[in-house]
Amino acid sequence: MAKSDPNWSDVDDYIVEHLIGDDPVLDACLAANAREGLPAIDVSSAQGRMLELLARGVRAKYILEIGTLGGYSAISLARALPDDGHLVSLELEPQYAALARTNIERAGLSDKVEIIVGEAISSLAALEESDRPRFDFIFVDADKENYAAYLDHAIRLSRPGAMLVFDNVVREGEVIDPDSSDPKVPGTRALYAALQKHPKVDATAIQTVGSKKWDGFLLGIVRDD
Ligand code: SAH
Ligand code: DHB
Ligand code: MG
Repeated sequence: MAKSDPNWSDVDDYIVEHLIGDDPVLDACLAANAREGLPAIDVSSAQGRMLELLARGVRAKYILEIGTLGGYSAISLARALPDDGHLVSLELEPQYAALARTNIERAGLSDKVEIIVGEAISSLAALEESDRPRFDFIFVDADKENYAAYLDHAIRLSRPGAMLVFDNVVREGEVIDPDSSDPKVPGTRALYAALQKHPKVDATAIQTVGSKKWDGFLLGIVRDD
């Protein structure tokens, strides 16, 4: 089976043209990221809008993101927030975080977004020690090797009923291969294993095709019973 089909990207263009339209702020974000040499691994335009709609749908007021890159998904998520809402985004690379702050400033969202630089595992431990409110929505899109650990932190940091989204859980189908040569696969498989009959999270995963080829996202809800 073909692992990529040029139609996928054309259909994404059609979706964006009809349902999303021009977005100079996000275009400027991608242009700045390219100028600074960041990898083009942001969520797609359609996925960014989906994150915004999911967060709006659950009326998220406190959102956590793991993996900021240049702030593309952070801008998408922050757009869902009410005036007194807040997004915390965790990023390892200081240079990426600095550019994300510039991009978020240009989007007029600086008041709502806080980027914490460092290893996400350490930042998550610090967040757990703090007396911040629990998160309503958590988007995980950083190093796949730590996905199972991020799940544990996400459960502890979220309120019952919170929505969890994990990016890149299909990886062109590689996820079903226990002997995959893709080093990110074992970490993703550990996430699925942890969620198999998980007592606290109900989950599904949806495969996607489009400008980011064949991949998928995992959607979970922290149980409130
Ligand atoms: N969510 C972004 C894309 C994130 S790409 C968007 O859609 O716009 C993954 C990001 O995770 C990269 O910026 C990478 O530097 C960061 N990352 C990788 N390992 C990390 C770690 N251990 N702690 C924190 N961030 C990490
Ligand atoms: C990679 C990471 C991502 O978050 C993504 O959306 C696509 C690719 C990667 O590290 O290869
Ligand atoms: Mg991703």
